[in-house]
Amino acid sequence: MNDFKERIAAELLAVRDRSLAYTAADDDLLVRQHSPLMSPLVWDLAHVGNYEELWVLREAGGIDPLRPEIDDIYDAFKHPRKDRPTLPLLGPAEARRYIEGVRGRVLDVLDAIDLDGPTPLHRDGFVFGLVIQHEHQHDETMLATLQLSGQPGLVRDGELPAGRSGGPEEVYVPAGPFFMGTDTLPWAYDNERPAHQVELAAYWIDRLPVGNRAYVAFIEDGGYEDPRWWTAEGWQWRQRRGVFAPLFWVRDGHAWWRTRFGRTEPLPMDEPVQHVSWYEADAYARWAGKRLPTEAEWEKACGWDPEARRARRYPWGEEDPGPDRTNLGHRAAHPAPLGAYPGGASAYGAEQMVGDVWEWTDSWFQPYPGFRSFPYKEYSEVFFGQDYRVLRGGSWAADPAAVRTTFRNWDYPIRRQIFTGFRCARSELV
Ligand SMILES: [Fe+2]
Repeated sequence: MNDFKERIAAELLAVRDRSLAYTAADDDLLVRQHSPLMSPLVWDLAHVGNYEELWVLREAGGIDPLRPEIDDIYDAFKHPRKDRPTLPLLGPAEARRYIEGVRGRVLDVLDAIDLDGPTPLHRDGFVFGLVIQHEHQHDETMLATLQLSGQPGLVRDGELPAGRSGGPEEVYVPAGPFFMGTDTLPWAYDNERPAHQVELAAYWIDRLPVGNRAYVAFIEDGGYEDPRWWTAEGWQWRQRRGVFAPLFWVRDGHAWWRTRFGRTEPLPMDEPVQHVSWYEADAYARWAGKRLPTEAEWEKACGWDPEARRARRYPWGEEDPGPDRTNLGHRAAHPAPLGAYPGGASAYGAEQMVGDVWEWTDSWFQPYPGFRSFPYKEYSEVFFGQDYRVLRGGSWAADPAAVRTTFRNWDYPIRRQIFTGFRCARSELV
């Protein structure tokens, strides 16, 4: 195998290690549904193998189906998450055997395949990038399921750098054009393409994500009781659901606690807020006299290098993310404190844009001009419209292989079980 193939093999191995670690619990925990929002973990486990079979073995490798009778069960489009426990799912042991059998053949295909052609699926190993990123995304989903399960002792925690205070609250991004999206990153998805020029007016964007301390101030100022700060839809949602704080927060008199992977701990005031819906983020921004950034504003502040006049792969440049630059890849099971990564700053000086928490933007998930669906419509195209808001940057639970300045995630504005926070922006006063 050449170097590139070795790297792909190593990425396949790394992501599988994580999937197996997140499903190492008792069978009972894996087959149970912990929330109607999530699949039983054992569904995710077999689904990543089925996806790998469909794309690497059948589509790219031309291999006959191994288990065609289970395709239907693991088709995410046929069965919404809430219905998945009623399906005749493979049990945990059988699921592990199945995905291992698929993986053995995947490595054979990798060995034999020509990564320079003949189709866009083969080129630059796109199909391997597709399944590696897909499995990482399911790993993050499994972590959200484990958080919802409330079971202690299942999720690894680790050390992160200390935060630092001081520094400007906002950074300034002057007016001017930049290139949004990419034509060149080989594993970028269809929805990140093509690169296209976008002209933006000048704006200010928060240097850091909004922290728990600032968010508590919003709550204590009556932010959840004042419809002025909320959109009509957001206010309705807040009232109907009786929401008064981020998900997993607990109030005890004046003290705030949070539950995290089965433990209750004092709320760390210097961490970015997470587990807020788009409605809450939007209301906070209005209360603060600001607004959420558009997706284009977010990407320019994160990835554009105004001197080189080109987009960077990461805020700091092209080098791979290391522990001194960003909190990605589940180093610890929570966001790093604010200011922990001066070395991860973007060209404009914004920090912690990648890693820590996904960040809600003001934008709906829409195609870029010139969008072409690849390799299938159900990856992006069927989600375009005004149902989903765009999230950017990746969380502490996301993997470097599935995060870059151009990467777009999307979800319903009511979602809070995901590892999501936000930062604010405001237009320059004229
Ligand atoms: Fe999937």
